[in-house]
Amino acid sequence: MEKELVVVIDFGGQYNQLVARRVRECNVYCEIYSYKTDLQKIKAMNPKGIILTGGPNSCYEEGAPTCSRELFEMGIPVLGLCYGAQLMMLVLGGNVEKAPVREYGKTEVFVENSSPLFGNVAPTTTCWMSHFDYISKIAPGFEIVAHTADCPVAAAQCREKNLYAIQFHPEVLHTVEGSKMLYNFVRGVCGCSGTWRMDSFVENTVKEIREKVGDGKVLLALSGGVDSSVAAGLLAKAIGKQLTCVFVDHGLLRKNEGDEVEAVFGPKGDFDLNFVRVNAQDRYYVKLAGETDPERKRKIIGEEFIRVFEEEAKKIGAVDFLAQGTIYPDVVESGLGGESAVIKSHHNVGGLPDCVDFKEIIEPLRNLFKDEVRQAGLELGIPAHLVFRQPFPGPGLGVRIVGDVTAEKVKIVQDADAIYREEVDKAAAAYKAETGKDAPWLPNQYFAALTNMRSVGVMGDERTYDYAVALRAVQTLDFMTAESANIPFEVLQTVMSRIINEVRGVNRVFYDLTSKPPGTIEFE
Ligand code: XMP
Repeated sequence: MEKELVVVIDFGGQYNQLVARRVRECNVYCEIYSYKTDLQKIKAMNPKGIILTGGPNSCYEEGAPTCSRELFEMGIPVLGLCYGAQLMMLVLGGNVEKAPVREYGKTEVFVENSSPLFGNVAPTTTCWMSHFDYISKIAPGFEIVAHTADCPVAAAQCREKNLYAIQFHPEVLHTVEGSKMLYNFVRGVCGCSGTWRMDSFVENTVKEIREKVGDGKVLLALSGGVDSSVAAGLLAKAIGKQLTCVFVDHGLLRKNEGDEVEAVFGPKGDFDLNFVRVNAQDRYYVKLAGETDPERKRKIIGEEFIRVFEEEAKKIGAVDFLAQGTIYPDVVESGLGGESAVIKSHHNVGGLPDCVDFKEIIEPLRNLFKDEVRQAGLELGIPAHLVFRQPFPGPGLGVRIVGDVTAEKVKIVQDADAIYREEVDKAAAAYKAETGKDAPWLPNQYFAALTNMRSVGVMGDERTYDYAVALRAVQTLDFMTAESANIPFEVLQTVMSRIINEVRGVNRVFYDLTSKPPGTIEFE
């Protein structure tokens, strides 16, 4: 892959991955490294530009994350954001102090001096501020470019040395012209030509995989989720039948999901690979029988997965590589920032690699963000319904059936969930067709769960004593916190009446209004 690289140096701010994403949106490849990374190592990567991120500390305090003066003397353009801006000023001889007024939220910024960073940006523009400290004195050689009502230095520059400092956060969408500023930096100041594209990623990665794998054998645990599916597509394109995918159907998948995965990756699908589907449904139901404790259920599902996978791996024999669908946020969140190879255990099972005889891990999506993984998936010809799949937990419907799991309950929740998703998708598509916009209530995750409550009802002239289905729909940015989505009442009513009429064993439907916290998104 052609590496016209911009390096983001991470000082622990909450928006750091966003900075890297915005740079990639300018078609410039970008990687995040910890501020502890040796400067010589960064220099050796020959970056076209460096961005210093925000961070939670005060840069003048002892022990606060810092950087050396040399970073600014390498002749590489540097852009400091928030903490990064303050640090740049402090290290180069300016001053940073606790601000008399804390700025937080949308703020008007007044651009007073011309700057390549603010090309095509309005003289008064809305930005996102979040800081306790402020730059009270700029470093020698710098000039102030912009200010706000409370902050005398909202942006400063030393054009001669290509050093730029911005107190606000251009990476956040609330900074209305932020993407333009980052574009101006990477494409203008750094002179990047913008050749980073997903099609070139696919092409280059396929080449790299071929070189690395040679005539070796690769094993991949395919879950049917977005990441492992795209990894399978890439590897299949690169090495065909040298790849074996093991897909374990644990009987806790959504309706028809096992067959959908097989249709794409199995012998009748478009990819040339060895596909092993293990129908382990009954095994799982036997193991789970009578178990009601959520943690025990999760553990049983995880352990059984290892056992099934191990059995299949034994049949295949030793392989040279174990492939994993690790993506960039996993790498960054594990604190490794691309510094060393990491063997990340499978998302949903502890320590999978231990049970398989392999020499090396291969992680073809290690440098991609989720939306880039999706783009690569489409490039590879993986169908949109797989590529744009909602997040689905590893333990599957096991955590959406409160109490013990039985084949009968799985069938109920699968059928109810399929109806619910169909109706929500239909309503969302109708809204979009009518207005050209996404529905404001469009959830990021929505599914049906089965409560373990049975209650009395009446159907026809008969008394019933059946289960209650709970409908969940949440809006969330990061899945750490979430709000219940405001799905139109008519849609919910349609779903309710279809479930009651079409799914046997259900006589009541609830809508879950709980936010997270205090609720979680899943039920167990
Ligand atoms: P909770 O229920 O913790 O879910 O609010 C947050 C997000 O994580 C997903 N989730 C899981 N994903 N293995 C996974 O791969 C799991 O065990 C698991 N549990 C929850 C959940 O679907 C939601 O998107």
